[in-house]
Amino acid sequence: MSSLHAGTASWSSEPGSGRGRSHGTSSREAFDRWFRYPAGFASDYVELLLDRLDLTDGTVIDCFAGSGVTGTAARSRGLSFAGIEAHPAVAELATLKLAPTATGQQVRALASELATKVRGGTGTRAKAGANIGDTEPDLVRRSFSQETLASLIALRDPIKQRIDEPAALYAKWALLATLRDVASVKVGWPYQRPGVARQPRHRDPVARFETRANLMADDLEATAGSPTPSKKISAQVIVGDSSDPAAWSQMTERGVACVASPPYLNNFDYADATRLELFFWGDVSTWGDMCREVRADMLTATTQQSSVGAKETALKELRGRSSDSVGPVSEIVALVDRMVETRLKREKRSKEYDQVAPAYFLSIWDILENLYRQLREDATALWLIGDSAPYGVYIDTPRIIGELAEIVGFSMMDDVRLRERGNRWGQNADRHKVPLTERLIVLTKPG
Ligand SMILES: C[S@@+](CC[C@H](N)C(=O)[O-])C[C@H]1O[C@@H](n2cnc3c(N)ncnc32)[C@H](O)[C@@H]1O
Repeated sequence: MSSLHAGTASWSSEPGSGRGRSHGTSSREAFDRWFRYPAGFASDYVELLLDRLDLTDGTVIDCFAGSGVTGTAARSRGLSFAGIEAHPAVAELATLKLAPTATGQQVRALASELATKVRGGTGTRAKAGANIGDTEPDLVRRSFSQETLASLIALRDPIKQRIDEPAALYAKWALLATLRDVASVKVGWPYQRPGVARQPRHRDPVARFETRANLMADDLEATAGSPTPSKKISAQVIVGDSSDPAAWSQMTERGVACVASPPYLNNFDYADATRLELFFWGDVSTWGDMCREVRADMLTATTQQSSVGAKETALKELRGRSSDSVGPVSEIVALVDRMVETRLKREKRSKEYDQVAPAYFLSIWDILENLYRQLREDATALWLIGDSAPYGVYIDTPRIIGELAEIVGFSMMDDVRLRERGNRWGQNADRHKVPLTERLIVLTKPG
């Protein structure tokens, strides 16, 4: 394995926005301000990384595309983008940002028409208000005042009826982004707590919806009006599982770089984090729907997704892939044993993190293989990833991923410590005290 050196000056640490600091994508940057995805990259940081790679041409890949921040940053640097994202709704948002299907003018006009109708009471507001208790999921009913919910529904229903119009999906996301702005209970990330009241940040849902739609329109117009780039750039968002070669077979370009952040081994549930939006729109209405429709393609990174059977299958597959008695596979197996041992010693019943790790690393291995094939020679892959410590058992996820990457053929060039993380849980007496970090691993595909 290549020598690792932590914290070189050449890879800057993250700027003060984005994940882990204010949780989620930027609320200021064009396009990324459309919807605050809690797991999103800080836009300015991805731009900084791309500048550091000094790319002038080609396609940047993100195998965990999320809300498409790598894509918006690539576009701002005149580069093409190709991404894979497993969360279908979030992939839809990324597609709208990166491969627009409507003009700013169309978005503005539709939002204004819908808002005028709701304000004038000619929409379905009164009727919807009468039925709220019967038709909306519990979480949705409890998150808003009756009047606010009636307005939200009066905006939603006509958008759904007109979903085939070019601007309708933009109106949908303007409305979904409005939900947490006007909620009268705690609906922060990652947990939605409909039992805890708070003052809505914005009181008028219709005005907020229109403001949000107009922001989207501004961004679409600014991009359309910018001087035509001398070269043509493309953007592609594939909805699927990046551990599955079938998703990669749809990718039309090979990559000159990858900037990505995989799920961390920390039980963060990307599907559940968006439950309010999914339930409100009606994509899903039960926990079972969410597992089937939203989580199905995601790699196992939470105890919700794991099982005893899947753990054994993954361990068998991992052992079958490596005859090496000292490599990352034996480290993963040893970590699993330590987690079981520690969990069983705990007084209260604890989550089965030992069931998560084998499937997690197996998927990461598959993803690295797929990525390796899709990258051009001499390409660099930058992965932002944190370590973790379930019940205090330290898992050096970035280093293990780096070692798996080397088995696949990458060279691990650097492992940079960006910052400490996990401090926000410091008050939790049950939580381990192991210091955690956010890291940037730098992989290259040899020429
Ligand atoms: C840390 S977030 C990355 C967010 C992204 N960088 C952004 O700026 O929005 C990880 C993402 O990986 C997605 N994901 C999880 N498993 C996946 C898989 N097997 N294939 C593709 N995407 C996956 C999750 O849904 C989540 O959006």
